[in-house]
Amino acid sequence: VYLLLDQRDDRVVVTWPDGHSDGFLYLWLRDNCRCAECREPAAWERLHDTVAMPVGLSPASVVFDGGLSIRWRDGHRTWLSEGWLRKHAFRPPSDLAADCAEISWDSGIAAAPPQITLAEIDSGPAGLRRWLGLVRSYGFCLVRQVPAEVDAVIAVAERIAAVQPSNFGRSFHVISKPDPENLAYTAHRLHPHTDIPNRYSAANLQFLHCLQFGAQGGESILVDGFAAARKLAAAHPDAHRLLTDIPVRWRYQDQAVDIVNHFPVIRTDRAGRHLEIRFHTGLMEPLDLDPDLASSFYQALIAFGRLLRDPAAQVAFRMMPGDCQIFDNQRVLHGRASFDPSSGPRHLQGCYIDKDDFLGRLRALERDGNDFRRT
Ligand SMILES: [Fe+2]
Ligand SMILES: [Zn+2]
Repeated sequence: VYLLLDQRDDRVVVTWPDGHSDGFLYLWLRDNCRCAECREPAAWERLHDTVAMPVGLSPASVVFDGGLSIRWRDGHRTWLSEGWLRKHAFRPPSDLAADCAEISWDSGIAAAPPQITLAEIDSGPAGLRRWLGLVRSYGFCLVRQVPAEVDAVIAVAERIAAVQPSNFGRSFHVISKPDPENLAYTAHRLHPHTDIPNRYSAANLQFLHCLQFGAQGGESILVDGFAAARKLAAAHPDAHRLLTDIPVRWRYQDQAVDIVNHFPVIRTDRAGRHLEIRFHTGLMEPLDLDPDLASSFYQALIAFGRLLRDPAAQVAFRMMPGDCQIFDNQRVLHGRASFDPSSGPRHLQGCYIDKDDFLGRLRALERDGNDFRRT
């Protein structure tokens, strides 16, 4: 069985010995040259000028030599290994859908929730990696045995990256109080929601650490928003489409700020994978839609909200002082049961970190010491 090269006008088609074929565009090959003239060797950023390429670029010669060895008409040479080519060859979006690190869950996860102790996180890079891997797979994780001290949550978050301040400050205290700035600072029940959907940069990982909990009620609730969105897509595809298409005006305002942005409730990528949920009816401004469309939108929103509130989809648990929950605020919605503030204290402290910092740290830990320029 031989490897075949078929040179066409704008690309070379490689048929590998296993029979699979990949087409590689000449512009793409030239742009991805990995020589020291084309990539800054230390920073590994492209030096080659993508925009200066002639759009009809074609090579003087192409041969296979453990990879594609290309001589361009200006004399420049490019060599790309077979391994690199096979790794970066085009895959249709439908193939990508299967390539997903996410593990869906429902109330059954209560029997064995993803959890770790702070001591294991601090035992070395393997502990940190296991923790971050759990958060990426499940969208949440409980950290046990964190000291029940003010600002300990910031120290937990900063094991990953610097905390991301919001209009609530570097951290916030969830405690029932008079004249609250938001509903979290009351004793009301909170249905599952995502935080700060009104912010452009709502892409974050949220930490909630329990400092004191003597009150009756107030159990925490988490629900896998992506699992609920998939259920909606299967049962009511039109409703799912409306929630991805129609931007909602989300708004938070207090004495100091008025932060408004338009985003849909559900965002997906080209492969149909879920990227983000924004769902917090308390912060939804009046819909600015034609009444017929508003009617369909409300039906879609209500259908989705009911899936999120289905007890069979939720995990409910009572935090103990020293427990810290971490969840992906773009995927996992959080809520709580109402509580009786006269029955005892309930004090949580929370903060956010940027999701890019979290995923970026995890991916770096997963490189296993490989030189980053090889990947
Ligand atoms: Fe919240
Ligand atoms: Zn080059």
